[in-house]
Amino acid sequence: MISSSPVWHPFTQHAVHGEIPSIVRTGGAWLEAADGRRIFDAISSWWVITHGHRYRPIMQAIRAETERLDQVIFAGFTHPPAEELARQLIAITPSELTHVFFSDSGSTAVEVALKMALGFWLHSGEGRRHILALERAYHGDTIGGMSVGQRGVFNAPYDPLLFDVGRLPFPHQGRERETLDALDQACRERPVAALIVEPLILGAGGMLIYQPTVLAEMARICRHHGVLLIADEVMTGWGRTGTLFACEQAGIVPDIACYSKGLTGGVLPLAVTLCQRAIFDAHYAEDRRKTFFHSSSYTANPIACAAALANLKVWRSEPVRERIAALAEVHTKALDRFRDDRRFENVRQLGTIAALDLVVNDSGYLADIGPRLYRHFLARDMLVRPLGNTIYLMPPYCSTADELSAVYEAIAALDVDH
Ligand SMILES: Cc1ncc(COP(=O)(O)O)c(C=O)c1O
Repeated sequence: MISSSPVWHPFTQHAVHGEIPSIVRTGGAWLEAADGRRIFDAISSWWVITHGHRYRPIMQAIRAETERLDQVIFAGFTHPPAEELARQLIAITPSELTHVFFSDSGSTAVEVALKMALGFWLHSGEGRRHILALERAYHGDTIGGMSVGQRGVFNAPYDPLLFDVGRLPFPHQGRERETLDALDQACRERPVAALIVEPLILGAGGMLIYQPTVLAEMARICRHHGVLLIADEVMTGWGRTGTLFACEQAGIVPDIACYSKGLTGGVLPLAVTLCQRAIFDAHYAEDRRKTFFHSSSYTANPIACAAALANLKVWRSEPVRERIAALAEVHTKALDRFRDDRRFENVRQLGTIAALDLVVNDSGYLADIGPRLYRHFLARDMLVRPLGNTIYLMPPYCSTADELSAVYEAIAALDVDH
């Protein structure tokens, strides 16, 4: 498709992609295109929008903050929205997490986490460098994020830039022991700096769910070997899995936690990496070489911080958990009809995330099935971006039962010739 636009879109092969809708307005769970079409946002615009698009209290807080602050350098300076947000984040997370480092995307939150882990070991005199990660993991598209993520078509061209990582098998149901044994073995073989995980569900890897008990056991093994546990809650945070953070369900406290996406309700880019005191303390020295050398120009943007503060207030003052529970129930009921439907397999759900796999011969990411499914839904004014043959829904919490049941009807109507 030849386009006159100079814009190069993410994860988009322009040579084969069809028309790209231009969205001119958003509201609730809906995107409104320039041609007047209204498209239901069944994936919360890449998992960021939590309460709904242009959620009023958040938009109001942004407007108010623009009357006071714009960007302020964050090295050697601070400002009330960042200070207040850090305090509130510390208050809503386990008490062991004591420090907050700001950045601006999920990927950079992960880079910061990896750098904190290496800095901790270096400055503590042990110099551990080896990182462990799960197979099928996704942690972002920066070099560190790609390195700890699953290797494949997405990052093959950049392979020379990526560092080696120890890979643990995904804890498939019934085979969890393999993962735990592999973790224990890897920790015995050589000094390990950190294990990074997406708690309870691997998102871009195919919405693969594993048990809280496995996460708890992974945390225990890490603790036993003195290995830092990094919880990448970039996707799972802010209620997606049914609780505010996924780690809560396993009753664990990571050494380092990454939050982004729903941190601002999805309205503005912002990320935080929280860590335990020992990690901050390892960098705390009169020796300036132990400074945590990471920054980006927009660190702790005050307007984004104000949006995040408004989001936290929404969580405190509105029945968000009830909305999430209601949404989860809609999924549970709707998914039931697909459990005996032989066109689908692996029907699954975690909180507000529902997924099922279409049975196909070729399910790889580059197989034609993903784009065909995408077109199927878009033709029905629904934004659903399958991961290969995995169809998943992760809608904003304001989505109604009727809106969702329309998407489930569209799934039921699938007669993709494969
Ligand atoms: C678990 C996880 N980590 C990191 C990222 C990267 O976040 P961002 O796209 O904001 O860089 C994502 C994005 O989907 C993610 O799901």
